[in-house]
Amino acid sequence: MGIMKVGMLTGGGDCPGLNAVIRGVVQVIHNAGGESIGLLEGWRGAISGEHMVLTPEITRPIISMGGTILGSSRTNPFKNPDQIDAVCQTFNDLGLDALIAIGGDDTLGVASKLYGEKNLPTIGCPKTIDNDLSATDQTFGFDTCINIVTESIDRLRTTADSHRRILVVEVMGRHAGWIACYSAIASGADYFMVPEREVDLDDMIAVLQKRRDEGKKHGIVVVSEGAQFSKDGGYVTQNQEVDEFGHVSLGGIGEHVAKIIEARMGVETRSVTLGHLQRGGSPSGFDRVLGTRLGIHAGRLALKKEFGKMVALRGTNIVPVELKDAVDKMRGLEDSFFDEAAEFMK
Ligand code: F6P
Repeated sequence: MGIMKVGMLTGGGDCPGLNAVIRGVVQVIHNAGGESIGLLEGWRGAISGEHMVLTPEITRPIISMGGTILGSSRTNPFKNPDQIDAVCQTFNDLGLDALIAIGGDDTLGVASKLYGEKNLPTIGCPKTIDNDLSATDQTFGFDTCINIVTESIDRLRTTADSHRRILVVEVMGRHAGWIACYSAIASGADYFMVPEREVDLDDMIAVLQKRRDEGKKHGIVVVSEGAQFSKDGGYVTQNQEVDEFGHVSLGGIGEHVAKIIEARMGVETRSVTLGHLQRGGSPSGFDRVLGTRLGIHAGRLALKKEFGKMVALRGTNIVPVELKDAVDKMRGLEDSFFDEAAEFMK
């Protein structure tokens, strides 16, 4: 066989650290005398064939950059069998030997199905600020996100304190409470709400009131966008639309919670939705290192022709795991983490 040609794509919501992965893959493939090809805008590029050649000269400066130089989309080729054929066609037309999909559950789910159903030699690399992927201890992007939320809450705290207000901060995370839990701990919030536990408004009011009675002049509440007022689907959504993977667009619960607090406690309350700020800007040092290491190991798996695998962080090591295990089940916030954070919310 001639030189190895490895394709890669970044799919789903972007996150800081994607460029570090791309740079890691390109370096390893280059060191082995191979070629790297970037498919543009996630699975959309895999369908259309739109691509760019990636060399170390191109990827050398990108480690500090947020987003992804390849672009991203929430395109799902499994929506239409013709699109799946198109992906396979692109793979052959470009003469690829492997395809590394860098993404969350949706993107990796497609990679897993392409491997299982179409025998396409795919490898997965886990990304998402939500940290909700099974089979890896942490996803890159999450650490940067926590730093952004923590810094934002530190800023909100000073203005909340000046005005003796309660501030409700709505954070992303979809149906997992990792972002809310970690940022609540890191920012010293008074209360937090996550999708994994039914919202208990009485408990929240009791805790906030207790803080005020203790003399604390402001309050900070962190709420996950996916927290539910009732377990039978009480999500707050931005609209009725779903994306190609069937996901609703969450958002707006913070405002409801703020209104409830103000009405029940008679304390001026504001809400802030941090939104896409949580995914923007340069990656933290941790995410740069994690992304680079995952990229290196994904590239090495391609060189070893170990397909149908995902690179994962286990402890401090990067190890290969079965791609299908990573996408089988969402990883919600674990009880032990919730209980640790809850020590401060009593
Ligand atoms: O999965 C990452 C994420 O940022 C979620 O936390 C959030 O619910 C969603 O993506 C937002 O998606 P979009 O960028 O399409 O608005």
